[in-house]
Amino acid sequence: MQLDTLENAYIIVEDGVILEVGTGSRAELEARTDGAKWGGSSITNAEKSPGTSHETSSPEKKSEKDFGSENSTTNIEWIDLNQAEVMPGLVDSHTHIVFASPRHEEFALRIQGATYEEIAAAGGGILNSAKKLRETSEDQLFEDAAKRVQLMMEWGTTTLEIKSGYGLSVESELKMLRVIKRLKQTFPIHIKATFLGAHAFPTEFKQRRDDYIDLILRDMLPAIVADELADHIDVFCDEGFFTPEQTEQILLKAQQYGLPAKIHGNELGLTGGVQVGVKMNAWSVDHLEHCSEVEMELFRQSNGNTIPVALPGTSYFLGIPYAPTRKMIDYGLPVALATDFNPGSSPVASLQTVSALACTQMKMMPQEAFHAVTCNAARALRMENEVGCLAVGMSADFLVMKSKDAVKTIPYYLGQNQVQQTYCRGNCV
Ligand code: NIG
Ligand code: FE
Repeated sequence: MQLDTLENAYIIVEDGVILEVGTGSRAELEARTDGAKWGGSSITNAEKSPGTSHETSSPEKKSEKDFGSENSTTNIEWIDLNQAEVMPGLVDSHTHIVFASPRHEEFALRIQGATYEEIAAAGGGILNSAKKLRETSEDQLFEDAAKRVQLMMEWGTTTLEIKSGYGLSVESELKMLRVIKRLKQTFPIHIKATFLGAHAFPTEFKQRRDDYIDLILRDMLPAIVADELADHIDVFCDEGFFTPEQTEQILLKAQQYGLPAKIHGNELGLTGGVQVGVKMNAWSVDHLEHCSEVEMELFRQSNGNTIPVALPGTSYFLGIPYAPTRKMIDYGLPVALATDFNPGSSPVASLQTVSALACTQMKMMPQEAFHAVTCNAARALRMENEVGCLAVGMSADFLVMKSKDAVKTIPYYLGQNQVQQTYCRGNCV
């Protein structure tokens, strides 16, 4: 996989979109531009990821004469980054950052030996978060989630997917999704919403699971679609949660509403999540702590249509196996990484931390981790023509780094933020 670095580089931005990337001095540029913004830095960039045939038209290239031709120079804002290194904004394709409170008590139980499954079976876990979320006001949920978004932006995240799934009733799922909508309207970064009503069976439906599926299909989905509250749907297809058959049933209905699928799969075992994901054209199957060659072959056959997303924060925090991403990459798969930021299995906000875990624990090379949190992660959201790489026509989402060689320093300095400034759509956020 290629990594392109330009020295003494500039980026010209207009209306939040990259108009031109190149090298040269400000004086040279001033002699010919009438356009927007100027970098003055070295740019490290992800090449468009290879190994797939998922159709991507490359962003349209504008010719030099297109930019600024009608602008006066007074509209130009020159930003000199003093030769700092710049890289694309990070893409977090899997989070659950709308939640009511942390689950410290479960953390303590797990330190003493209880497993995630045992805690869930006893009514803790996701159901614990659901109970707390139902008791928390929409405003409070928004305020708390907004602080998490702010933190993630400081750590370089410029594209963020957020799931519902702690509501588990019509009213509370809608409440969560409205909070996500408000986050979209409030923050300048790219935010996508995923409906995860099928995250767990709520206590009141424990003995009548089909009724809960009916509730999702008949009540939740139409209401969510009517209010345009979700960009995708997700199902937790795993041992003790939703079966592949139930997953398929839900995804089929969602397809009728035009909602693309993402899947939580193979966290707790080889439980058929990849099979149903690839079959149903899911944009990604996430977790994959259990993933055999059979699953890798299915991903390969999907031709980049379904992206494997690994969540090392979860493996670290729950003490479960790490997804075999070394093997997956050697198999030719376009692996993405995400934080899975949530109160139960991954209280990890930073993709930089995730990259560090991926290198030390999963033997990914720094460059592979970089691609996994930029261009490959963008593909897990089908946003690869918009975010995840610095090229003409892409959103001007870039990070000004504290030091050179950030691709290497990010996974090296665990827990030390390497981002100095985060720009999204051309503005410092
Ligand atoms: O991705 N595995 C399912 N869902 C979340 C965890 C949710 C929770 O424990 O609160 C995950 O790990
Ligand atoms: Fe998750």
